[in-house]
Amino acid sequence: MVLHDGTIVITGAATGIGRRAAVQLTRRGRHVIVVTRSDDRATGVVEAATSEARDGGRITSVPADLADLGQVRRAAAQIADLGPVHAIVNNAAILAIARRRPRLTVDGVEEVFAVNHVAPFVLTTALRTHLTGRGRAILAGSKGLVVLPWLRLDLDDLDSSRRWSPVRAYYRSKLAQLAFAAELCRRGVDASVLRIPSVRVDHERLAAYPRLVRLAYQPKLRVAADPTVVAARYVDLVTATRAVTGHVDMRLRPVRWPGGTHDARLGAQVWSATEALATGRS
Ligand SMILES: NC(=O)c1ccc[n+]([C@@H]2O[C@H](COP(=O)([O-])OP(=O)(O)OC[C@H]3O[C@@H](n4cnc5c(N)ncnc54)[C@H](OP(=O)(O)O)[C@@H]3O)[C@@H](O)[C@H]2O)c1
Repeated sequence: MVLHDGTIVITGAATGIGRRAAVQLTRRGRHVIVVTRSDDRATGVVEAATSEARDGGRITSVPADLADLGQVRRAAAQIADLGPVHAIVNNAAILAIARRRPRLTVDGVEEVFAVNHVAPFVLTTALRTHLTGRGRAILAGSKGLVVLPWLRLDLDDLDSSRRWSPVRAYYRSKLAQLAFAAELCRRGVDASVLRIPSVRVDHERLAAYPRLVRLAYQPKLRVAADPTVVAARYVDLVTATRAVTGHVDMRLRPVRWPGGTHDARLGAQVWSATEALATGRS
């Protein structure tokens, strides 16, 4: 039974958790719009979701490199033309673990932060008026923040471009997503951040890692969660009759907001600072 009108947008659905979520949702009769780097990157998920679709479920691909905010804005306009949106699952992210120096995007933003936080901010805010009712924004959090209790956002160096490490850039992007989600809730959108534990990455992704990173990854493979199971939690958040909001664990129970990210003042500051980065005013 279809519980809600409107489509579901999922970013980063070429691989991993996003790909599984897209297939699971078309199986449940939903229209899913996948945002992938290019139409080529969407081929696999489009074929899988189409062949498993039930009850009128279907999939549409909208290409956008999330490291280019012009492409993100164009994708948002294309999505808006396709009709009302029920939920946006901001799943795409990069970690860039083997990178030694920050890399700036065409918009002049540090790339990890741009893809993981600024692009979701731009996509979600651009689609805000096309959301059905309050709409739902689902964001990909990380359980890894539990071992970094000292980590905070730096409003003077939000994208960590001045003091950069791959780990700082990645986890600060996750903190920014938390502050953004809390602020979205205050501004009338039902936002949730799923605290994702360590997850098995797809073979294709693993093969692209440097040898040392692949070796370091082996112990994690034994304990990592199945991406299909994590995808099912996205599906639960999208389809729940009553919206689940806030920072939630894999059982969708509320968990602590790290780094003071639930603070209303910080939420408003992160919103303005992200807007400034997105428009080149920083
Ligand atoms: N895996 C874990 O252990 C883990 C743990 C905690 C949280 N998470 C979070 O869970 C989410 C999904 O992770 P996953 O494990 O499914 O990883 P994944 O397989 O690497 O998926 C990430 C997706 O993001 C896309 N993406 C990256 N940069 C992009 C760009 N510039 N433009 C468009 N798309 C881009 C990738 O597309 P391409 O394939 O084209 O690059 C890929 O499909 C992420 O937010 C991640 O931070 C994962």
